[in-house]
Amino acid sequence: MAIAVDIDGTIHGPHDARISVFDHGFLFGDGVYEVLRTYRQRPFLYAAHMARLRASAGQIALHCPLTDEAMRGRIDATIAAAAVPGEAYIRILLTRGVGDIVYDPAACPVPTVVIIVKPHLEVSDVARADGVVVALVSVVRNHPDSVNPVIKSNNLLNNALAMQQAYAAGAFEALMQNHRGELCECAQSNLFVVRADAVLTPPVSAGLLVGVTRGFVLALAAGLGLEAGEAVLREADLDSVDEAFLTSTTREIVPVVRIGDHVVGGGRPGPVTRRLVDAFAAAVADRLG
Ligand code: PDD
Repeated sequence: MAIAVDIDGTIHGPHDARISVFDHGFLFGDGVYEVLRTYRQRPFLYAAHMARLRASAGQIALHCPLTDEAMRGRIDATIAAAAVPGEAYIRILLTRGVGDIVYDPAACPVPTVVIIVKPHLEVSDVARADGVVVALVSVVRNHPDSVNPVIKSNNLLNNALAMQQAYAAGAFEALMQNHRGELCECAQSNLFVVRADAVLTPPVSAGLLVGVTRGFVLALAAGLGLEAGEAVLREADLDSVDEAFLTSTTREIVPVVRIGDHVVGGGRPGPVTRRLVDAFAAAVADRLG
């Protein structure tokens, strides 16, 4: 079935991959995760993803018990076991572990490490070529003093509720605003806009996940000689932006042609987005070459 799951060092098929109902990841969403993808069967930007996993874990006083090398060994073994025909989707979950139903972290002496490998689903050619519609949802992104969005947390209810509204609207993604009413990020990706040739994305202080792809694309844009950086954006700004796009590990760069009621770039993907899509493909090829 091209799916394999490593649980604490033992690889299972999709139907016998099970964890305890007393795992605090299940009981409380008490854990963190990462999503990677492969290019030519090799995890992309591995060091950056592991650094973020450790940073997320640190934010909730959780320790990742594996070195980067040991984690990589398990990932490679799981990819081999899954025998994915093309590229792989890799989800690493690190949870508090199994313990009594109390919030005390001391109840769970051993964290659980799960690695799920399954086929990577490419964004459709139509979405990449024609752009997608994003719903501007009423669900507010978590306040940074609540479950801080910089933590890639297994507690994904905020994101799931935002996506419920996107699915209901027939949209590809859900764009959330923060507690100040600023545009923040999508349920599964970061937002970028292009205004007067400047490539802009909401600041980390808006309360968002610092996407690995976001950083990669900001560097790519700068490398192309474009002005690139953070800017506070509000819904009203959407009427004056020339282009918009999303970034994430699994989606790379996807043009956006409408956000809520705001048609962007006359409803067509723009030239800067196209340049970045091409530059992204070239940069991936370069790194693999
Ligand atoms: N999502 N913001 C949120 C809320 C995300 O869940 C993601 C990634 C991103 C983009 O981050 P990155 O570029 O590091 O993938 C931004 C992953 C892919 C997921 O949960 O499936």
